[in-house]
Amino acid sequence: MIGSSATRKEGRDKVLGRTEYTGDLRVPGLWLGATVRTTVPRGILRAIHFDPGFDWSDLCIVTAADIPGQNRVASIVPDQPFLVGIGEEVAHPEQPVVLLAHPDRFRLEQARRAVRLEVEPLPAVLDLEASLAGTTIIYGTDNLLKELRITKGDPASIWDKASTVIEGEYRTGAQEQLYLETQAALAEAQVEDGTLRLDVRGSFQCPYYVHGALVGLFGLPRERVRVAAVEMGGAFGGKEDYPSLIAGHAALLAWKSGHPVRIVYDREEDMAATTKRHPSRTRLRTAFDAEGHLLALEADFVLDGGAFATMSPVVLSRGTLHAAGVYRCPHVSIHGRAVATNTPPPGAFRGFGAPQSLFAIERHMDVCARELGLDAVELRRRNVLRTGDTMATGQVIREDLDLPGLMDRTLALIDFEARRTRNDGENAYEPEIRRGVGLSLFMHGCGFTGSGEAKLASVAGLEALADGRVAVLAASTEMGQGKHTVFAQVAAEALGVPMDLVEVAPSDTARVPDSGPTVASRSTMVVGKLIQDAARSFRQGLVQEGLLPAQHTPEQFQEAVRGMQARHGSYRSYAQYHTPPQQVWNDTTYQGDAYPTYSWACYAAEVAVDTTTWEVSVEDFVAVQDVGRVINPILATGQVQGGVAQGIGYALWEEVQMREGRMANATMTNYIIPTAVDLPEIRVAFVETPHPAGPGGAKGLGELPMDGPAPALINAIAHALGPVQLDELPMTPERLLSRIEALEARHD
Ligand code: MTE
Ligand code: MOS
Repeated sequence: MIGSSATRKEGRDKVLGRTEYTGDLRVPGLWLGATVRTTVPRGILRAIHFDPGFDWSDLCIVTAADIPGQNRVASIVPDQPFLVGIGEEVAHPEQPVVLLAHPDRFRLEQARRAVRLEVEPLPAVLDLEASLAGTTIIYGTDNLLKELRITKGDPASIWDKASTVIEGEYRTGAQEQLYLETQAALAEAQVEDGTLRLDVRGSFQCPYYVHGALVGLFGLPRERVRVAAVEMGGAFGGKEDYPSLIAGHAALLAWKSGHPVRIVYDREEDMAATTKRHPSRTRLRTAFDAEGHLLALEADFVLDGGAFATMSPVVLSRGTLHAAGVYRCPHVSIHGRAVATNTPPPGAFRGFGAPQSLFAIERHMDVCARELGLDAVELRRRNVLRTGDTMATGQVIREDLDLPGLMDRTLALIDFEARRTRNDGENAYEPEIRRGVGLSLFMHGCGFTGSGEAKLASVAGLEALADGRVAVLAASTEMGQGKHTVFAQVAAEALGVPMDLVEVAPSDTARVPDSGPTVASRSTMVVGKLIQDAARSFRQGLVQEGLLPAQHTPEQFQEAVRGMQARHGSYRSYAQYHTPPQQVWNDTTYQGDAYPTYSWACYAAEVAVDTTTWEVSVEDFVAVQDVGRVINPILATGQVQGGVAQGIGYALWEEVQMREGRMANATMTNYIIPTAVDLPEIRVAFVETPHPAGPGGAKGLGELPMDGPAPALINAIAHALGPVQLDELPMTPERLLSRIEALEARHD
């Protein structure tokens, strides 16, 4: 079962249009909800004006004053209100203030337009530079949402001794997740024996996060709130924290109106108001000896965290932990900061901080190679981590690690040397179209950072069904990444039965235990392992009761499961996560094993740059990765191809234009993402080094493919164009042209 490309469990329904997303759910007496939002970056909400000429009698209206529990979203820092109250500070444009519900969508929209907010403006901080400058303080005493430091050795003692010291500054922009299905929630509220009961369904990556948020918002006992994740049309991290808000809003409207209420954002509202990837600035300083060995590395990594902390502390943590890349270095100092701005809070997006810092280090290595007069491949070969080396946090690489081998595989697949030589030869004639090749070498930490998994103490299980089949019980959600299929494969293998005897239960808090959020590429490795353990003890139980022979047919298995239920009424088995004893992490000093293991990859690309329009097209792309054992090759290949496509968009085209703290291009006509015609065939290969942390030796894969494309592509453009300063994403034609002009101005 493990290692076979089993057919995607929900694939048929999706392809045939039978899947019901949140927007498709039919509920009698349904009302629709809408949100009135702020338009200015900062100020004090003085009044809410409801147009006296409008008939408000049949509308449900909710403001902050109606909130029965705590008007703060339960998160790492409970600083974000569900709704801004009168007299309170407005911290960003698009902040929700008034909620409206009505059965008719047109009347609802008219009502939304008949509300006017009166906001007394305050000076705003609109980008990370302004936040760092500290002239205007908008958050705490210093605009800092979170600060981290990682120290190894003493870089300060090296700068004077090194033969070369190279500095660089790298910037990345925001990126919109652009899942196909926008954010959506459907809430029902009932009063039973005088107490409220909430039932909320929606496009949620993490139903238990939403559950926690609703418990706080209404001040209800946990068992009075039920949250179920409906099949999702993509999430990519974007449905990690924002669903707490939209679900809270739908629930408030349902509770006050007495009707079921659904809120579905249109594309523009979704793009403008919900989370994106954090913009970043990374300053790097590196020291090398005469042979090109890395002696010291200093990184100053800054994320624009928007108006509230939301996920920024943990996105910062992952970004900071990946800032030194895949290199061995005796002296390292990394300073990470997430700073506040008066913009809608960014959040999780595939890669979770790592694409930002890995772009910086992997672009910087190519810049260093050029300055050192060394080949970029050779510079990496001399400095990569090997088994037994220590990373910046002191984590020792215990697994078999062969990064030069991974690089060689990639270089061979794309025929790197030959193409480079051919491109150099052709570019010498200054043709209209210049070609270049580039690569990146990187890792992605598997599962939650540091003591995250220990704190979650996730639980997953298996349950006997009446017909003798088995259901997998886990809160993990399906967002297209293939969790339904992978979980069924893992369970079927451990039970010794075909996959059709395994069902995967819906992610409904009333039915499944908290297996943790569906984030951090953790489902296959961490939750999959729990499912494997639970399945083994499930089977063991049947054998011990004498119901199941060691060798059995599927029919005998079903009979044993039915027999077990006849004896005990019901039959379930659970497994809970325990940190392996060798994994030690100190959250205060940021020392130890930041992750149980890493997935490793080397990506290479060939680009063609049009020297008239400065458009870049990707002509070839090779992605080689070691993600441990591959559970389902077709799904895994799909994960890589999709992630690489998003990475190509991040590198070249996707630009979030901010004006006065608002997204100015919140539509798909002017926020440009790659489509199939813009992409080459993405060639994918796996190197499989099994790791004991995951079922069958599998590690995390979901986010890794997002980390590598940007540096590989920008390095390839640099190869095509020579000494142009390429230090920012996205490298749109406009930006590339400005860099060419800057270079020409220097030469004049
Ligand atoms: N793939 C698809 N098709 N849709 C998604 O929304 N999300 C990504 C990745 N791959 C996503 C996806 C993100 S952000 C994460 S964290 C992982 O899937 C989560 O799933 P996993 O734990 O099963 O890897
Ligand atoms: Mo993924 S960004 O961890 O949801």
